[in-house]
Amino acid sequence: MSFPEDIFTEQEPDPDTLANLGPLTRLAGIWEGQGGVDINPKEEGPERRDFTERIELQPIDAQSNGPQLLYGLRYHTRILATDEEATFHDQTGYWLWEPATGLVMQTLSIPRGQVAIASGHAKPTDTELVLTAQRAAAAYGISSSDFLEYAFRTDAYRIEVVYNPDGTWSYVLDTTLVVRGRSEPFLHRDRNTLKKVAEPTPNPLMLRRKGGKS
Ligand code: HEM
Repeated sequence: MSFPEDIFTEQEPDPDTLANLGPLTRLAGIWEGQGGVDINPKEEGPERRDFTERIELQPIDAQSNGPQLLYGLRYHTRILATDEEATFHDQTGYWLWEPATGLVMQTLSIPRGQVAIASGHAKPTDTELVLTAQRAAAAYGISSSDFLEYAFRTDAYRIEVVYNPDGTWSYVLDTTLVVRGRSEPFLHRDRNTLKKVAEPTPNPLMLRRKGGKS
């Protein structure tokens, strides 16, 4: 990791985010998956739940941190149990790509009182992404409410995304929980495969350039 002395001079961004997403290009759009599987911690032990999922991943305008130029997608995931009327996971955040360094980041916010930022590196043509975050890390950490710290301490997060040859993509998501009163960490694992149901909407600056509404 090396950063420039000049932390203020910005680069000129390209207004067309969809053309600059590198290894995130395949994620842009609206996706659904019926075959999700969740393993979560219950008092009696690990519980398996099947779920259906919808993810919207829409391009945002490029963002600059001084010389660091990021292109990205804003996402919202909704997960419903297959066997009952229950939304058991809701998540929002951003997937970000820095073309200059190959840095990939995912920020996540979960309405349990939890946020995290995971990182990894990839090349534009990669068909697999791996990102990780750790609790108590100064960069790329996990931060939780005091109840979660007490009862379900979240020590680590890892997501692996694979782009399949048929245009779908799959993920395996591992969240390591230290559940109060248990001697072994619990592996809270989720997996699903997503199929595209709609194309993404171009980002606001691109819509303005084309004379559309922003
Ligand atoms: C596809 C993604 C996910 C699904 C479907 C999912 C689903 C669930 C379910 C069903 C529970 C049990 C809730 C209950 O007992 O009332 C749970 C617990 C939990 N999840 Fe997830 N989860 C997902 C991802 C995550 C991620 C990414 C994190 C954190 C980085 C996370 C953190 C937790 C924590 C801390 C708990 C324990 C709280 C509790 O059981 O009350 N989950 N999750």
